[in-house]
Amino acid sequence: MLYFDNAATSNPKPEVTWQAMEHYMRDVGCNPGRGGYAGSIAAGRIVFMARERLMTLFNAPSEKQVIFTPNVTYALNFAIKGLLTPGDHVILSSMEHNSVVRPLRFMEKNCGVELSVVPCDRAGRLNPEDIRRALRKNTKLVVLTHASNVTGTILPVNEVAAIVRQTDAFFVLDTAQTAGVLSIDFQELGLDFLAFTGHKSLYGPPGTGGFVVSERAAERLIPLVEGGTGSKSDQEEQPDFLPDKFEAGTANTVGIAGLGAGAQFVLGTGLEKIREHEQHLTRLFLAGIREIPGVQVYGPAKVEERVATVSLTLGGADLGEVAAVLDAEYGIMVRSGLHCSPLAHRTLGTFPAGTLRFSFGYFNTEEEVQTAVEALHTLARQYC
Ligand code: ALA
Repeated sequence: MLYFDNAATSNPKPEVTWQAMEHYMRDVGCNPGRGGYAGSIAAGRIVFMARERLMTLFNAPSEKQVIFTPNVTYALNFAIKGLLTPGDHVILSSMEHNSVVRPLRFMEKNCGVELSVVPCDRAGRLNPEDIRRALRKNTKLVVLTHASNVTGTILPVNEVAAIVRQTDAFFVLDTAQTAGVLSIDFQELGLDFLAFTGHKSLYGPPGTGGFVVSERAAERLIPLVEGGTGSKSDQEEQPDFLPDKFEAGTANTVGIAGLGAGAQFVLGTGLEKIREHEQHLTRLFLAGIREIPGVQVYGPAKVEERVATVSLTLGGADLGEVAAVLDAEYGIMVRSGLHCSPLAHRTLGTFPAGTLRFSFGYFNTEEEVQTAVEALHTLARQYC
């Protein structure tokens, strides 16, 4: 079986992820921060180590500013619903995922929040000056995906961060497709909120994710979930210190153990090596399919401008059917359709049929990519 759906979740995970999860389940098994006995302390240490590794990876100011949530969607909802109040204005790009668009549309409809969707071009590229032009006096948030989950297009985060830093707005970066692949420096960018997923290029299990939050955003951010933290248990109100302010209830310690090991795998392997391999595979794939009649590739032509995600169409073929044939006849797993990003597909001109998406990961090989290229040559003869 050939797995090319790493934009949905990375597969396989490194051995260390399994080992860390098994170690927690077999040898620790206790609740972190809930007891003074050795097992609870050991569990707390696992969570602390994961926080520290993510702090290092993102250059967060402190490990306390790394908050765990069940996934990146929860993290983005936290920012959007926890920071916005009636009358606020939000800027987003037209390449955003529904994890951003849906909570923002909810806030627009129900909470008096105004939205400006800044259009990207048909390759998913954003002109940062369009963000500047969209700014208003009441702009509270600028929300941007670091790279599109449809085309892999990398958005100009440095330039947008520089623009937002000149205002009082908060900058929220969705790193679902880039954390663990591209270098992201929270402090240098002056970010307020970095939302990450654990189960993609950070090589943790599903059910993990979180955010890094600046001190100024943490003060203003209302916790979406309140409850037990194992701290200040005499109080009926949520503690106001980090990370407890935003982490209520028993943590997903087994998931966080895996995520911590995955983050360590990324730190140990090195972002450059991971990025280089994924770029190499993307270049091979793009070169291999360029000449196929009827195949149209979306996104920038240069691999430097994209992560290892490639969307394409095959003449007028039903791409759900093509994905099913790839699975059944070639053992190739890809995702077809709208990828939970209808706004991005409208931008590309591929709404409502969507695209066929190949997304490569660190564990894919040249041979696997070559097999995918050959399969597409054959299918194009059939469908185009
Ligand atoms: N957002 C993930 C994807 O693009 C699940 O497939």
